[in-house]
Amino acid sequence: MQTVDHVHLSEDEKELIILDQTQLPNRRIYLRLRSREELFRAIKELQVRGAPAIGIFAGFAMYVLAQQYSREEFLSRFREDAAYLNSSRPTAVNLSWALRRMTRTAEESGGDLHALRAECQTILDEDIAMCTAISEHGLSLLKEGDGVLTHCNAGPIATSRYGTAIGPILMAQERGIRLRAFCDETRPLLQGARLTSWELQNAGVDTTLICDNMAATVMSQGKIQFCFVGCDRVAANGDTANKIGTYGVAILAKHFGIPFYVLGPSSTIDMACATGKDIPVELREADEIRSKWYREPMAPEGVKCYNPSFDVTDHSLISGIITEKGICRPPYTESLKALFE
Ligand code: MRU
Repeated sequence: MQTVDHVHLSEDEKELIILDQTQLPNRRIYLRLRSREELFRAIKELQVRGAPAIGIFAGFAMYVLAQQYSREEFLSRFREDAAYLNSSRPTAVNLSWALRRMTRTAEESGGDLHALRAECQTILDEDIAMCTAISEHGLSLLKEGDGVLTHCNAGPIATSRYGTAIGPILMAQERGIRLRAFCDETRPLLQGARLTSWELQNAGVDTTLICDNMAATVMSQGKIQFCFVGCDRVAANGDTANKIGTYGVAILAKHFGIPFYVLGPSSTIDMACATGKDIPVELREADEIRSKWYREPMAPEGVKCYNPSFDVTDHSLISGIITEKGICRPPYTESLKALFE
C-alpha cells in the first residue's frame, strides 16, 4: 500500500513536518513546526487530526521541544509544555496517553534526548503494528462484495498505516478482495468527503460518498452489510466517543439490523472513564457550521449554533470493539478489562 508520510521529523530533527490535513484533498502542503504555539495550533486547527495520529504527533512534538530546553529547566519546561499541548483538544485520549508516556520517559531518563527520541519512535511503531492487527481482525468479518459504511476519517492519515475503521477495506483491496465503501461526508468539517473518500479512491477502492443524511436510505436499499467507525475514547463499559454523527449511524444500523463495529487501538480505551458520561466532549466554533470553507456564509450572521465535535455511542448499539488484540464482545465491562490483564 502506498503510504503518505504525514508526521515526521526534519532531517536535523529540530522540526516536525506534517501534511496539513485542512488543505486536502486539493493541496498537499507540508508544514514545518517548531514552537510550542505552532504545535498546539496544529492540533487545535485539525492540521493533524485523528486520535492515534494526534498521539503520534504529540510524542514527536515533545521531542522537538525537549531539544530547546536547558539542563536546569528541563523537567519543569517539559511538564509545562506537555500540559499546554494536552489542553489543545479534550476528547481523544491518545493525546494525554502519549504525553504521559513522554513525560515518564523524561523523568525516568533524567531528560535524556536519546531516550525521548526512542520513545516517540516506539509510539509510532506500536501504532503501525496495532493498525495492521486491527485491519486483519476487521477483515476477518468481511467477504467479497460487502458494502461498508464509515463515518469521519479513521484511515492512514488519522493513524500511522492502514488506519483503523478503513484499515480492513484497504487491506482487502491489497489482497484482491473487492469491497464497496460508503463514506459519510461528515459535517461540519467534512473529514469523510475530504479525507476518507480521498484515501480510499487513491487506493483504488470502489468508493461512494454520501451526505450524512443519506445513510438511512442506502441502508434501506441493502447496500450496507457493515458499519465500521473509529473512536476517540472508549469508556470501560464500551460507550464510545467518535466524530459527531456516529451515534446516529449506530441507531440506524440497529434499526436495519446491520452490525456496527468500533475499531481502535487499545491506546484509545480509557479504563478511567467508567461510562460515556465521563468522556469530555469538545465544543467547537459556531463558524465551522455557518461559514468555514464556504465562499459565503450558509447561515444568517449571528445565528446561534451548537457544535459538539463528538458524540457518544451507547455500548448497547455496538456489535463489537476491534482492537489489535482481537474482537471484544459484550459485556464490554469484562471484555475490555481483559485486554489490560
Ligand atoms: O475531529 P477529528 O477529525 O480529529 O475526529 C476524528 C475522529 O472522530 C476519528 O474517527 C477518530 O479519531 C478515530 S481516527 C483512527
